Parts: sequence; structure tokens; C-alpha cells
Amino acid sequence: MNEPKDSSGGWDGYRTFCVERKEPESRTVTSFYLTAKDARPLAPYKPGQFLGFKLDVPGHDKPVLRTYTISDSSGDATHYRLSIKREPPPPDQPDAPPGVSSNYFHDHVEVGGELQVRAPSGDFFLLEDDDGDGDGEGGDSGLVVLLSGGVGLTPMVSMLNHIVSNGAKRPVWFVHGVRNGDEHAFGAHVRGLAETHANVHAHIAYLEPCPGDVEDRDYDSAGVITMELLQSLLPGKDGDFYLCGPPPFMKSLFNGLLDWGVVESRIYYEFFGPATVLKKGAGDKADQEPAPASPGPEAAADGPVVTFKRSGVTVNWDPDQETILELAEANGLAPDFSCRSGVCHTCMCTLIEGEIEYVNDDAFLPEEEGQILICSSKPKTDITVDV
Ligand SMILES: Cc1cc2nc3c(=O)[nH]c(=O)nc-3n(C[C@H](O)[C@H](O)[C@H](O)COP(=O)(O)OP(=O)(O)OC[C@H]3O[C@@H](n4cnc5c(N)ncnc54)[C@H](O)[C@@H]3O)c2cc1C
Ligand code: FES
Repeated sequence: MNEPKDSSGGWDGYRTFCVERKEPESRTVTSFYLTAKDARPLAPYKPGQFLGFKLDVPGHDKPVLRTYTISDSSGDATHYRLSIKREPPPPDQPDAPPGVSSNYFHDHVEVGGELQVRAPSGDFFLLEDDDGDGDGEGGDSGLVVLLSGGVGLTPMVSMLNHIVSNGAKRPVWFVHGVRNGDEHAFGAHVRGLAETHANVHAHIAYLEPCPGDVEDRDYDSAGVITMELLQSLLPGKDGDFYLCGPPPFMKSLFNGLLDWGVVESRIYYEFFGPATVLKKGAGDKADQEPAPASPGPEAAADGPVVTFKRSGVTVNWDPDQETILELAEANGLAPDFSCRSGVCHTCMCTLIEGEIEYVNDDAFLPEEEGQILICSSKPKTDITVDV
């Protein structure tokens, strides 16, 4: 890993960062370069990891918590870069309020402004290709396929930059789908890397090119990214596949890759919003069957009893699960989650009865009384949660 040599820059809780630069990357995506106010070293991070933010947004009683991926490689220890897409109201609900945090960043976070930031975290990051040559520079053989839709490209740009700045020669395919040239971020950067590095290949698909978008200059194909397209581009299916984008994009490619014969354990993915079930046949939340109301065979008969009240499911704690979220999923429930690491608060719910303990020391605990993070906790006693 090309991590900063001084790794003492980690921190607990929030640390104040200053906005050093703010740069548009497209009509909808803007980058923010952040430096630590205390000028001490930054924490190292793995390409693909994110930062947590606590924002005081005018008109909001409580701090707004959000997570944003570090969109650059880990080669530069002086700043973190975020690239944030302005979220408008959903197309079918034009009167709904626009996204709170993303619009706050775009409209109110300016150079010189300060932000409260949690240290880098997250389980979605580039796995080094250990070629065993001992040069510490990563391997030169393993195929890496970076598949992104929309602003899901931020971890992929970080991974791509890391591979290039690390001097690794492993073949990397950066395949990105976006609506059109107006929304396309980092186009020139990625194209430049592909032109100057023999191991880097890029393919950009515009869903609906604008009249000014030029094929073979701005984009390579029109329409969605299909498996046929991927199979025509990639040298093979023996590689590490990274996926990030809107749920329909992820679902279609995840299942397409499996059908093609890609090993499931080599497909890594991250959701930028509440996660959904990807695997075909596993069903989305909406079409899931009610879960069994009795403990599964693995449950410890004398373990704490966990009641998911809203779902009407009661089970014994299963010591094979690490968290209440995992227990819920093992029993057919699909609570909302996103980061699974105690940062984003998507999984937060009410503890109606009983006591829990946190299994993740880095979790950012909810300030609201009675709220818990089920992605980062397990029961201490019998509990009832509002899931
Ligand atoms: C691990 C991780 C990494 C991420 N990295 C990035 C990144 O690199 N770049 C990036 O841009 N984002 C990233 N995100 C997403 C980011 O954290 C935010 O979720 C995103 O910016 C939207 O937040 P918001 O506050 O702007 O929108 P929210 O306020 O959360 O709203 C989301 C959507 O809901 C709509 N909405 C709000 N209220 C209503 C209502 N009453 N009825 C109907 N619709 C409504 C809004 O219009 C908006 O479209 C990441 C997320 C995760 C979990
Ligand atoms: S899923 Fe993000 S805090 Fe639990």
C-alpha cells in the first residue's frame, strides 16, 4: 500500500477540516479538497473508503450525518478529496425537498469553511494484488474491473488513481455509466490515464447522450452497460469486480456477472443509499416472504431473545452472527443499512426493551436516547427492537 508513512493521523470522534478548494467536476458533481485545521498528519485510508460528516444545516434541529467517499488515491497525505453529486428531488416527486446534505455542500460549503469529519472507514476498498515479489507495490497480474453508475464512480476513481500512482501493472478496466456529458465527472482524467498507461482501459456509456456529446471523444457507447458489452470488453472473468451505482445497475450487473461465471466472493459492492438485496431470487425487501417466527437451527437455545417487533419475528441470539443486523438478515428480514460500520446511521432504530452492547469501538453512537445502531451492536439481555 502506498499509505502515508506517518500513520499517527488517525482520530476519534470528529476533527475540524477546512475547505481548501472547491471545483466542479460536471454540472452535478463538485469536488471539495479538505485539509486538517490542526495541520497534523492525516489518517491513511484504503482506496474506496469514506469519511463521516456532521453538518449543521440551517433549518435542521439536529446535526445531519452523511458519509462521502474519498475520491482520490492514497498517494497524497495532505488532503482528502470528496466529490459530491447534488441530489434533486426524485423525478416522480418534483415537489419533494431536494437532498439536504448534497445541496448544502454545493450551495453553502465554500473555500475557507470548516467541517466536522470522522476518520476514514469502510469495508469496500481495493484489495491489493499480492504477487509475492516483495516490492510492496502490489501485483502486476490480477485483473481489476471497476464498474460504476453515476456518482458511484468516486470509489472507483480512488482505486484507479491508487493503482496508477502505485506503479502496479495489473490490468484495470474502468467501466462507467452516466446519463450524459453534463453529468459526467472525471471524464478527461480517466481518459488521460487510459491513454498514458498500457494497463488501464476505460469505457464510458452515456444513457442519453446530449446533442453536444461526441461518440469516441466523450463516450464510447450509448445506452446502459449490459453483460454483452462487458463480455466484449473484458479479457476474461478471472478478476476482482467492484460495483457501485444505483440499485438497478448493481442488481443487473451483479447477477449478470454471476451468470457469466464470475466467482461470487470476488464481486465487491457498496451502496450509496439504503442497500437492497442483489442476488436474483433473493427478492427485494418489498417482495420478501415473512420470516420464520421461530429460532433457526443455529440459534443458542439459552441466548438472549431478540424480538423484531414491527416484523413480528422473535428469535434467540445466534452466536454465529456478529450484530443484530446480521441476525435480522439471517432470519429473512431486510432492515435498512448502508455503511455497516456505525457511521451513516441508516440502520438506526429504537431499542424498545433490554440492553445491547456495541461490538464496533469506532461506531458513532446516536445522541438520541433509546436509539441504537443494529449494524454495530449485539444483545446483552433479551431485547425488543423496532424493526
Ligand atoms: C458509504 C457511502 C459513500 C458515499 N459516497 C458518496 C460520494 O462519494 N458522493 C456522493 O455524492 N454521495 C455519496 N454518498 C451518498 C451520500 O452519503 C448522501 O446519501 C447523498 O449525498 C444524499 O444525501 P442528501 O442529504 O443530499 O439527500 P437526502 O436529504 O438524504 O435525500 C435523499 C433523496 O430523497 C429525496 N427526498 C427528501 N425528502 C423527501 C420526501 N419527503 N419525499 C420524497 N423524496 C424525498 C431528496 O430529494 C433526495 O433525492 C455515499 C453514501 C454512502 C453510504
Ligand atoms: S448501516 Fe451505517 S450506521 Fe449502521
